[in-house]
Amino acid sequence: MNHPKFSSADSKDKINSSKKLIFPAGFYWGSATSAHQVEGDNYNDWSEWEIENAKFKMQNAKLKEWPDYILNNYPNPLQEENYISGRACDHYNRFCEDFDIAKKLGHNAHRFSIEWSRIEPVEGKFNEKEIEHYRKVILVLRQKDIEPFVGLWHWTNPIWVRDIGAWENKKTIEFFLRYIENVVKVLEPYVKFWITLNEPEIYVAASYFSNQWPPQKNSLISGIKVYKNLIKAHKLSFKKIHQISPRSLVGIAKNNSFYEPFSNNLLDRLAVCLNNYLRNNWFLNRIKNYQDFIGLNYYFHDRVKFSLNLKSPSGIFAENKNRNEIINDLNWEIYPEGIYHVLKNLKKYNKPIYITENGLADAKDEKREKFIKEHLYWIHKAIQEGVDVRGYFYWSLLDNFEWDKGFWPRFGLVKINYRTLERKIRPSAYEYAKICKTNELIL
Ligand code: GCO
Repeated sequence: MNHPKFSSADSKDKINSSKKLIFPAGFYWGSATSAHQVEGDNYNDWSEWEIENAKFKMQNAKLKEWPDYILNNYPNPLQEENYISGRACDHYNRFCEDFDIAKKLGHNAHRFSIEWSRIEPVEGKFNEKEIEHYRKVILVLRQKDIEPFVGLWHWTNPIWVRDIGAWENKKTIEFFLRYIENVVKVLEPYVKFWITLNEPEIYVAASYFSNQWPPQKNSLISGIKVYKNLIKAHKLSFKKIHQISPRSLVGIAKNNSFYEPFSNNLLDRLAVCLNNYLRNNWFLNRIKNYQDFIGLNYYFHDRVKFSLNLKSPSGIFAENKNRNEIINDLNWEIYPEGIYHVLKNLKKYNKPIYITENGLADAKDEKREKFIKEHLYWIHKAIQEGVDVRGYFYWSLLDNFEWDKGFWPRFGLVKINYRTLERKIRPSAYEYAKICKTNELIL
């Protein structure tokens, strides 16, 4: 891969105006989605759990103050339907229309995931029609010259997998391998990039270390079992996919956060090292000989102060001291420079890196253009300094179902009207399109 050279600024450099940044030839530009969040009419462990979650979340939502721009949208956090994935964006039926939009926006790659519960709704009974559906999805992308990045597991499990204890049960590894074998056998002629798992550490944290997501277990032991089984599942999947399709490239999508110490104090620095290791590197170290590329999902920055708190959003022994100068609709801090540091940290693995997710909830579309451009500035800087980044997928192509929070956070390049399912391209999407089409970022 050809890496154009630019004079490099130091990391304290502020974004310099009137600069043209050229990305490496062949760079992939696109956006990402996941099956459960956009398809509609899925029946899995989440769709059942959502019904309970809706009641609980609505009660909580009533205790909060919500801005009008969120309450005026449909559905809003005070409405039950916000929390039920239901028909979602009906992407299952409208994928052609959605990929037309991606094409129009200059995307040359697209990340999506396959829903296990559709392929194998009952243990051992594979639904050929559903595999055929995904074959069509991929063929439509190929016809448009959009490279598919295909995910095999994005957090949802079939009901029967849930009923055997999901990833706590070792048997799930065997079942997962059988599922991917069935899928990969049929789809491999059209797919080069496979993503076995999405954000295993976020799944374990939210589903097993805290009460947020199904199965809402608060158990360290269960969480560690799940971790181990996911590691094993990935390694075996890596081998299996290569056996079936030696030319394929396999990786995971890993959510890494930029940790920095609140002060120069030794304890703050130790808390950073510990959380950096556990959250960012631990899983990747375990699978380092079993990946052809690294998929990076970047959203978070944590300015960490040592604390005796064992469970904070920043990790263990850590209190979050972010300045939160700019935030998105979910109150997550926007911190573009962090992606540069996270990328530098990944360089040691010596693998090509694809940014498989980076995005924000911004219903008014006021911050999205700047968000994308600033993150790309820092990505470009990492590339210049030798980090082998080969693609960027904005999260997400469409507004979608943001898990336990439901539909109200608006991440899309494309706005969805959830009453009519009409799609409307947001202005920032056209700005991103200019970059995708020219392979250049003009600041
Ligand atoms: C993740 C998931 C996505 C989310 C997105 C926004 O990275 O958390 O892959 O499914 O919707 O990240 O939170």
